[in-house]
Amino acid sequence: MNNKEYTNIVFIGLMGSGKTSIGKKVARILGFQFIDTDEYVEKITGKKIAEIFKQEGELRFRSEETLALKRLSGQTQHVISTGGGIVVKEENRNLLKELGMIIYLEASVEKIFERVSGNKKRPLLRGTDVMQKIMELKNQREHLYKEMADLTINTGEKSFDSVVQEIIRSLKR
Ligand code: S3P
Repeated sequence: MNNKEYTNIVFIGLMGSGKTSIGKKVARILGFQFIDTDEYVEKITGKKIAEIFKQEGELRFRSEETLALKRLSGQTQHVISTGGGIVVKEENRNLLKELGMIIYLEASVEKIFERVSGNKKRPLLRGTDVMQKIMELKNQREHLYKEMADLTINTGEKSFDSVVQEIIRSLKR
């Protein structure tokens, strides 16, 4: 692993791709601190994400994500799981790249649908055709995830543990 990779590990990918659960496990194995940018934004603002979206809109939420990333800069030995849309803002992409090694967790729309349907916490999926929305988000964002990734892990039909092991093995290479 080179120096950039050692600073922090950042997980990117669509909602429901496993960033938080996998990130937590990878952090535990590496002995790194775990941070989820969604939780961090909620802590900084004192508001739930759904509230920020509803009261202030998505653009404001993206700026809160920028603030969270700025506060994280200078930290080391953290595993950072990000909100799925953090990459749409250029400033966020630049801040993320500076933070450390970026791992894109790639998952099919079907798998994502399976994981997120029934979960009411995500404002972008409210009152809409969920499958349609996931496809739309994937089309809009996939090139950004791929362009940013130092490592892409296809989570496919793999078990949670095998994805974690694949990541740990790649980090040791
Ligand atoms: C979003 C994904 C969510 C959260 C917010 C917006 C998105 O995070 O940041 O609801 O734009 O895709 P997860 O990817 O952790 O679900």
